[in-house]
Amino acid sequence: MYILGLTTMGEAAASLLKDGELIAAAEEERFSRIKHHIGFPHHAVAYCLKEAGITLAQVDHIAHYWKPWVLRRRVMHTIATMFQHRQLFESRIARGSDQFSGYYLPMFFMPSRIREEFGQAGFKFHYLDHHICHAASAFFASPFDTAAIFTVDGVGESTTVLYASGAGNRIKVLERIHLPHSLGQFYSAITNFLGFDMLQGDEYKVMGLAAFGEPEFAAFFQKQIVVPDGPGRFRLDITYVDHQMARNNRYTEKIERVIGKNRLPREEVLPIHENVAASAQKTLEETALRLVRFLREKTGERNLCMAGGVALNSVMNGRIAREAGFDNIFIQPAAHDGGCSLGAALYIHHHALNHPRKWVMEHSYWGPGFSSAECELALEGKAVRAVKLDDARMSSTVARLLSEGNLVAWFQGRMEWGPRALGNRSFLADPRTANMQEVINRKIKLREPFRPFAPSMLEEDAASIIGYAKPSPYMLLVFPVNHGWEKQIPAVIHVDGTARPQTVSRRVNPRYWNLIHEFKKLTGIPLLLNTSFNIQEPIVCTPEHALNTFLNSGVDYLVLEDHLIQKV
Ligand SMILES: [Fe+2]
Repeated sequence: MYILGLTTMGEAAASLLKDGELIAAAEEERFSRIKHHIGFPHHAVAYCLKEAGITLAQVDHIAHYWKPWVLRRRVMHTIATMFQHRQLFESRIARGSDQFSGYYLPMFFMPSRIREEFGQAGFKFHYLDHHICHAASAFFASPFDTAAIFTVDGVGESTTVLYASGAGNRIKVLERIHLPHSLGQFYSAITNFLGFDMLQGDEYKVMGLAAFGEPEFAAFFQKQIVVPDGPGRFRLDITYVDHQMARNNRYTEKIERVIGKNRLPREEVLPIHENVAASAQKTLEETALRLVRFLREKTGERNLCMAGGVALNSVMNGRIAREAGFDNIFIQPAAHDGGCSLGAALYIHHHALNHPRKWVMEHSYWGPGFSSAECELALEGKAVRAVKLDDARMSSTVARLLSEGNLVAWFQGRMEWGPRALGNRSFLADPRTANMQEVINRKIKLREPFRPFAPSMLEEDAASIIGYAKPSPYMLLVFPVNHGWEKQIPAVIHVDGTARPQTVSRRVNPRYWNLIHEFKKLTGIPLLLNTSFNIQEPIVCTPEHALNTFLNSGVDYLVLEDHLIQKV
């Protein structure tokens, strides 16, 4: 039985299950080449069907990640703002009518749209609650029989936080928090206040910047803006910080009086901006920790599953892993809305159709892969010199090139699911080089100096570096690095002495593991710097994307499966 899951607004994506096992999952942006693609995921659906070797007629169920008719709370919230502040109300009315005609109405016609694009088919179509999809994407992909489930984002239909528990093939909703009380919207509003762009997913820049500042305004934020409101609850005071106004780069006097004017995109980053970032980050972390501890007490569970856009905040996640009192944590790598396509399909299979669980997500490599012959075809007519090497020669050669200071673009296997490149579509470099930030900026991409690079490390060595003995395969947890390493691997350690590792398993990704292992044999260092294979565009998907990006960069070598490539 085939079940297709869909995300059809921001981070559009599709996922396909066969008899409860994931066959394929991909984000539309990788095909359309539009970051955070908004709209129907045509290419992602086409890819999923192709990967499975089926047509739409063979799909039994299609699960959609949103209920477009659930509008009551949004309307009530908009009306409520009328009595708070005219600007708050106006910004909601303008956005609401755009959203309804642009996104919500087309959702009602989704079943006919799919048939128009992929042919007649007799599937059953299901509209599902957004946060239930986030919850299912985490719990049903996790290795846990039972778990507490915490989902947190900007907003779904109206929910911003969901507390749930999972047992076997059931998910039980415990409590919800609704608009306007949203941790995601608070953090996004601060993102724009600091001159970054929430629509480009720039929240991670605030997280990176936070490490440089002092949380000067954290007490103010937690007293006035994100205010505790009983066990497991908080209130967001939107008369201080409002997401809808911040989208249009407008801010209220109430916040400007305390933390000053907002930063414009090209203005210099000043210490006050670092302090605002540190304050927002601390507020997020402490609020989330309080909520997650409440969930632990409520459920008595030892396992925690998380998803939702805010669950991409790896500094917050690291603190939850260390401090919230759970033994185990699973965060689905596509924690953002794209991951809801997976959750929607899993929810139908398990909860709705009552099938038992047998599949566990052990990696994120669910996108397109390409054969050696396909890579060779892409090389034709390109100004490159290529040699073919077997796996053993390739890993020893590339390890040597990296240890000599070269930057290598590494393309192998199936593309990653979720926003992180995890060794199949990555730029790699030597983590020992102190000025690597400068080198990478020169050869690859201009990026803000406050954004740290992350390491991919051998799973076996992770505990000695980060003091965390469990796998962390998706770069979603930040840890303090053990004393003594900071001088050895300066390129992957942030200003506050932390790192955001990917632990690499030999069983799950042997080729990538072997490469890092060869590097360790040469240098004694069991890790590499890994940054995503893209330059101001979505991560590359095909050999053609990889070649074009390589040729337009200063990167020294490109590996396309078993081809080692240099420019001529
Ligand atoms: Fe979401």
